[in-house]
Amino acid sequence: MKKLLTLLILILLFFSYAFVTNRHSDEPVPIPPSPQREGGNARLGYDYLINGDYVKGGIPENIFRMGIGKPKIYLKRDDINEGIPHDYTAVKAANGEILIAPNCLQCHAQVFDDKLYIGLGNSFADFSDRETLNNKNLEKAEKFLKTFAPKKYKAAATFFEVAKTIGPYLYTEAKGVNAADRLAAVLAAHRDPVTFKWIQEASMPIPEAVIPTDVPAWWLLKKKNGMFYNGFGRGDFGKFLMASNLLTVTDTSESAAVDKHMPDVLAYINSLQPPKYPGKIDFNKAEKGRILFNDHCAECHGSYDDENFYPNLLIPQSIIQTDSLLNQSNYSNPQFVEWFNKSWFTAGDHPARLEPFKGYIAPPLDGVWITAPYLHNGSVPTIETVLNSRLRPTYWARNFDQPEYDYEKLGWKYRVLDQPGNNTTYNTRLPGYGNEGHYFGDQLSPEERMAVIEYLKTL
Ligand code: HEC
Ligand code: HEC
Repeated sequence: MKKLLTLLILILLFFSYAFVTNRHSDEPVPIPPSPQREGGNARLGYDYLINGDYVKGGIPENIFRMGIGKPKIYLKRDDINEGIPHDYTAVKAANGEILIAPNCLQCHAQVFDDKLYIGLGNSFADFSDRETLNNKNLEKAEKFLKTFAPKKYKAAATFFEVAKTIGPYLYTEAKGVNAADRLAAVLAAHRDPVTFKWIQEASMPIPEAVIPTDVPAWWLLKKKNGMFYNGFGRGDFGKFLMASNLLTVTDTSESAAVDKHMPDVLAYINSLQPPKYPGKIDFNKAEKGRILFNDHCAECHGSYDDENFYPNLLIPQSIIQTDSLLNQSNYSNPQFVEWFNKSWFTAGDHPARLEPFKGYIAPPLDGVWITAPYLHNGSVPTIETVLNSRLRPTYWARNFDQPEYDYEKLGWKYRVLDQPGNNTTYNTRLPGYGNEGHYFGDQLSPEERMAVIEYLKTL
């Protein structure tokens, strides 16, 4: 009898334990705050972002200017940056030559209705073009320089070397999605974690897949306790902000110098406000939407009423059900997370670290009207289709040359195709490109959905 009782208790204990752990993995997990370095100056941060030499290598100025023709300039800059598009910065090489380096605005600025929005994720970047950055073109430029301008060649040599090594890895299947996560993995494989010195042969396996992502808007960061879609960027954000430095860094003394500017850059990013919706808003409808939003959405996305509550929640895969490839890759390819967590970034008095999670952060929705396409992989063209999964197109194309925005459905106007097309077509059947999940809007009636969309215009 006593034995039976013990067994019964053990079984009960087992089940309650299983229930508790199971419940844990099925519930949103709040991200605790990470203290940041204080005293940043937003104005200095902006200046450093658009003029600073955090990426120290690039293409010799004359070749660059020959290649770009006369582009429209959206960001007026002086001196050596005059006439150079906003997403490049002129920097001086050690031997005095001027090089043109890519800057953060390659991915973190977008021209929208003929105006430049710094901080808006660039959904026009093209990683699908195998031609522009292919090694044949780079080798041609190198050969030309070696013969006719050896000093310029010398200044640009390391950049060419890095570009030739990483270029072939950065290919996406569609225009508009970003390969930055892959770039980070490739750079990690080619850099010693402690000294950041370049290693010609990759020191760890580079994952097969290029997982496409959208680019989150910078003005959301001030609310977030963890960086990136996976919320896994913890500790000192400045260390993540400077990651582009890995492209061309020679050693960690250079990184330390760049790192000193990061509190300013963070202050600038935190000073950004979401752009206001430019059209008419039906405020009666929006008020109905506000109430619906607070009932159905605020528990994850926060409330935008006066109290400005944002819960910083990671939503497990079992609940969110959006394409899982991005969050899974940190478990199937742990070498990148391991590299980071033993790297220079985690040393010193303001360390950073990566804490992966099997799910995604529920992002703040400030300025969400302008940040199409939606979900972490940009697989859904409009908010209308985020909120009604039955309308999500399997194959859709948008016009990249003459982009058209839908100010009512909130997102890119798109054409539905019945089969995969060229690189301007988003194919949601590809691994990592899936448009499933986030079914929370499906339960709303069409009128309720319209009201919620009207409300989202006000955020
Ligand atoms: C090649 C494109 C690219 C470049 C260049 C780039 N980023 Fe990013 N950035 C991304 C992408 C893509 C993400 C989202 C990745 C993810 O979450 O998985 C991101 C995420 C971020 C975030 C996190 C935002 C959030 O809300 O979680 C910040 C901040 C950021 N980048 C700052 C910078 C700064 C500062 C620079 C320049 C020093 C820079 N980035 C250069 C593509 C880029
Ligand atoms: C259980 C938590 C949860 C609820 C409830 C929820 N969401 Fe979300 N939402 C998320 C997560 C997590 C993401 C990011 C998913 C991804 O990118 O894969 C997201 C993404 C979004 C996006 C896309 C943001 C972007 O920039 O790509 C919109 C828009 C959105 N939600 C609106 C809503 C609205 C409106 C409601 C209420 C009808 C709602 N959500 C309910 C968790 C939630």
